[in-house]
Amino acid sequence: MTNAVLDFNQLAKNVNDDVVAWRRHMHQHPELSFHEEKTSQFIFDTLTSFGNLELSRPTKTSVMARLIGSKPGKVLAIRADMDALPIQEENSSEYASQNPGVMHACGHDGHTAMLLGTAKVLSSLKEHIKGEIRFVFQHAEELFPGGAEEMVQAGVMDGVDLIIGTHLWAPIEKGKVGVVYGPMMAAPDTFWITVKGRGGHAALPHQTVDSIAIAAQVVTNLQHIVSRNTDPLDNLVLSVTQFVAGTTHNVIPGSVELCGTVRSFDASLRESIPAKMERVVKGITEAHEATYEFKYEFGYRPVINDAEVTKVIEETVMEVFGEEALDLMKPNMGGEDFSAYLQKVPGAFFYVGAGNEKTGITYPHHHARFDIDEDSLEIGVKMFLHAAFKFLG
Ligand code: NI
Repeated sequence: MTNAVLDFNQLAKNVNDDVVAWRRHMHQHPELSFHEEKTSQFIFDTLTSFGNLELSRPTKTSVMARLIGSKPGKVLAIRADMDALPIQEENSSEYASQNPGVMHACGHDGHTAMLLGTAKVLSSLKEHIKGEIRFVFQHAEELFPGGAEEMVQAGVMDGVDLIIGTHLWAPIEKGKVGVVYGPMMAAPDTFWITVKGRGGHAALPHQTVDSIAIAAQVVTNLQHIVSRNTDPLDNLVLSVTQFVAGTTHNVIPGSVELCGTVRSFDASLRESIPAKMERVVKGITEAHEATYEFKYEFGYRPVINDAEVTKVIEETVMEVFGEEALDLMKPNMGGEDFSAYLQKVPGAFFYVGAGNEKTGITYPHHHARFDIDEDSLEIGVKMFLHAAFKFLG
């Protein structure tokens, strides 16, 4: 098994038309998290056509394919997600979504297509493979509690030595590969707050407990947790993203509903946040004769890349695409349930640049006009192929 006899770049090129066609098929037929029935069946049927793979359905809408090599060795898992988002697509390409209100607006169609392409190439190289490659097609990345945790519970990581995965990333240009050492994506937590006052006539505020005025102070004071109450060297985001109240101009509403997100990396900082928040909410509401409800939900764990696995990813980028392709990036405060796998085994997540300013592929992820430069798909397949052989030796 030497790279000298296997031209992975040519092999990736050979399957590229398939990869693009699969991506477009899935893009036309997007399905929401936990409802990927047709998508997972499409994946299952496509994998079946390759041969040499042991297929299973770890959960209702996920697929796992095991490729057992001809010699014993390590077990490498490669993961792709497959779910879409509740967004009405505004692109008018011939492969635009045919499901009203549902869209692949994060590139998961591309992730699955790249992993199918990788599986197609590798399934024909069984005799060259030492160990096992496990292709993990995961459902429901976008919706907490997430598909990854269910996959782990179903045993897909049993016996696995390491895992890699990628996200097509429009903020970086096609041709670049983004690599991050250590913390890469944050733990995304969610909170809900109800501020309960006493409604009444807007012209007689003294007869009310004005929930809007009090909730506005709650929002302002919550910002002190980040700016005054936690170490400035610890990464932390606290965003109030919903403020719902009122019906008309002359009525003070009885209550306000707030919700939002907290993002962090450090476990002890993360655990300290609900109490800090509740202290603020309690203090502000009590000071103004209001009451409150407070609910806090811990989401995915942070994605923290293993140094050794990341090193191999970095070397792969350098060897296959050259130094100019390598983008050593800072972490970001987005979330990813890939972290569930990293609880079990070391691994690394990386970005494949999918933006293209010249052709107008600049919309952010989760936007109704999001798209990827499809040339990025071949880059992802090459990364998986080269990296797989580097890991398995
Ligand atoms: Ni995504």
